[in-house]
Amino acid sequence: MNPAVPGGEPPVAAAPVALYLHVPFCISLCPYCDFVVYAGAAARGPRARVGPFLDALHAELDLRAAVLDERFGRDRPPLETVYLGGGTPSLLPADAVAALLVRVRDRFGLAEAAEVTLEANHGPDERGDTSAWRAAGVTRLSLGAQSLDAGELRRLGRRHRPADVASAVREARDAGIGSVSLDLLYDIPASTEAAWASTLDAALALAPDHLSLYALTLDDPDAEGLTGPGGDHLPTPTGARRWRAGARREQEEDRAAAQYVHATERLAAAGWRGYEISNWARPGHGDRRCSAAPARRMRDPRCRNGALRGAHARSADRPRPPPGRLPRANRP
Ligand SMILES: C[S@@+](CC[C@H](N)C(=O)[O-])C[C@H]1O[C@@H](n2cnc3c(N)ncnc32)[C@H](O)[C@@H]1O
Ligand code: SF4
Repeated sequence: MNPAVPGGEPPVAAAPVALYLHVPFCISLCPYCDFVVYAGAAARGPRARVGPFLDALHAELDLRAAVLDERFGRDRPPLETVYLGGGTPSLLPADAVAALLVRVRDRFGLAEAAEVTLEANHGPDERGDTSAWRAAGVTRLSLGAQSLDAGELRRLGRRHRPADVASAVREARDAGIGSVSLDLLYDIPASTEAAWASTLDAALALAPDHLSLYALTLDDPDAEGLTGPGGDHLPTPTGARRWRAGARREQEEDRAAAQYVHATERLAAAGWRGYEISNWARPGHGDRRCSAAPARRMRDPRCRNGALRGAHARSADRPRPPPGRLPRANRP
């Protein structure tokens, strides 16, 4: 174990070229979400914990950089990708994003063409200032669209409507963001194959550069022993537990498999390249090592460089898409 970072990962053989920063704040909790997230008063208002969190994050960046300095020297290769994920990093004030990226550049180095991604939500009170992020050095936005069906978004408890996704993509393009990715969920409770096909078509019509398609996974981290001392999940609130119990009854393995197969065929026909089980890049748009899904980052040792834990074990050990649910022939 790395003695300089409590609970740190075993030392890696080569200097990491990617950095993941987890921003664990959201305005409200989506009932299906297992990520480490603090919502409500912790995220904004007089009792918000964002300021102390940022102080701790800067301190951890320094600690981790010092370990790398010692092990690989200060002239080690600079980072190729930085990913601000969450939670909802778009809730951070733009000057806080800028300060983090200055710290990252100073302490880790950033390659000239480095890809810097920020995850954003679309709701009017959570989408942030895209132009300021661009000025701070963000080159890529990952937008959590989830669905482009108004009813499905409501059922999922999201704060945005389909039109907000379209305006967020427009804003990103107007601000000069060169790469835009959309996250979509399939196997949404009571969804249909037709609704999924419409969502996918509507997403393609927005001309994103990248798509992450995730099977909605409704786990019970408490029952799996992932919460409590030594666990890396937060306990599931009672309301979310109840929501999941009802929602699981409205999921369907065969429908999920059909939705996944439809996506692979629809995207292949449009010339998109699936380079990982849940990630596709549009024609001519390269995927970047470590840039996209947590699962991809965690499999590659040079991508495992996360300041503050939080994008937790699901990513490393239990990828979200449905390999277990799909017929073997359809597994990537
Ligand atoms: C953790 S969120 C962070 C981004 C942003 N807060 C949002 O929700 O759009 C990143 C992505 O994880 C996916 N996700 C969250 N909970 C999930 C679950 N239970 N099963 C599958 N995917 C999930 C969603 O597609 C989401 O866009
Ligand atoms: S899905 Fe996104 S917005 Fe919803 S609670 Fe999780 S991190 Fe926050």
